[in-house]
Amino acid sequence: MHNKLFIPGPTEVRKEILDELAKPQIGHRTQEFRDLFASLKPGLKRLFYTNNDVLISTSSGSGFWEASIRCCVNKKVLHAVNGAFSKKWAKLSEDCGREVTKIEYSSGKAVKAEDVDKALSNGNFEAFCMVHNETSTGVASDLAAISSVMKKHPDVLWIVDAVSSLAGVKIEVDKLGIDICLASSQKALALPAGIAVASISERAFKKAETVQGKGYYFDILQLKEAYDKNETPYTPSIPHLYALKKQLERIEKEGLENRFKRHKDMGVYTREWAKKNGFTMFSEEGCHSDTVSCIANTKKLDFKMIKKELSKQGFGIDSGYGKLNEKLEKEGKLTTFRIAHMGDLTLDEIKEVTAAIEEYIT
Ligand SMILES: Cc1ncc(COP(=O)(O)O)c(C=O)c1O
Repeated sequence: MHNKLFIPGPTEVRKEILDELAKPQIGHRTQEFRDLFASLKPGLKRLFYTNNDVLISTSSGSGFWEASIRCCVNKKVLHAVNGAFSKKWAKLSEDCGREVTKIEYSSGKAVKAEDVDKALSNGNFEAFCMVHNETSTGVASDLAAISSVMKKHPDVLWIVDAVSSLAGVKIEVDKLGIDICLASSQKALALPAGIAVASISERAFKKAETVQGKGYYFDILQLKEAYDKNETPYTPSIPHLYALKKQLERIEKEGLENRFKRHKDMGVYTREWAKKNGFTMFSEEGCHSDTVSCIANTKKLDFKMIKKELSKQGFGIDSGYGKLNEKLEKEGKLTTFRIAHMGDLTLDEIKEVTAAIEEYIT
């Protein structure tokens, strides 16, 4: 028996997807490969609600973090930092030698449109980067409100990390006007880790033409040139592409709206469960994520022990984001635990795991 994963990535992968990974290899310069690659494009565009190209990189999502900075920022970039992942991304931009300005929030808070507006009005930025769904704190920021602000700053590229929300929450890339929207496979897409997808706008490609030193592996112009021929610039992980094809078919079969509703229902249930059992949410009111709940451990349960015990029953759970809990502990504050409800998990499965946790609530 394996532990069914209720952690915020990698998420549980269904057997029929795992079977796809075991298919015999094919050459990546064959018509069979090109047909496989071409078959992925329409489903990906529908998933992102976009007519933009959706590039595929057989790396994890961080690859597109790096691609977006190295290809679309010459010098000045604005980052919203409201959790561990947005902080890491800003550090990556610094490591790439870019001049980074941060809008900083305390943990558990969402990115606010008015702060973005103010920061963009005060600086000459080439791009604004933000994480839609901060996996470390279970916070989802309001893309629609931020979109209105971005439209007031048309010279600034908008780059959104939707790593833990794409395929769980509706993100209408074209309507919102997102230039680069990137995601990893091992979250709400419910695939094994190892590929990432990103929708890239025409103006982001245009911008890339002006940037020097894009490097090789994550050069979006090289990826685009190959993409147009239904190829990749180098040997991709072909098993992942088979798995993605199957998963896109499964998603279509479920229906996007049904998939988003399932995530919402799981989110609402988990938050109500937390409240009913005497916990409070760590995430800011009104900004709770529908793919992962970050709950303040108000009852001071021993989650390290619970995690161990539940693993004997076949549940893989999370005892909170390590660095966040360390910091909270040092400050004498309540630590957190997370219940992920993303990917192909069902409400019944969430009910099973919460019932198992309940056994330890006194
Ligand atoms: C919001 C967010 N962004 C980025 C990452 C990094 O993605 P990857 O591990 O696929 O590189 C993660 C990983 O958990 C994440 O949750």
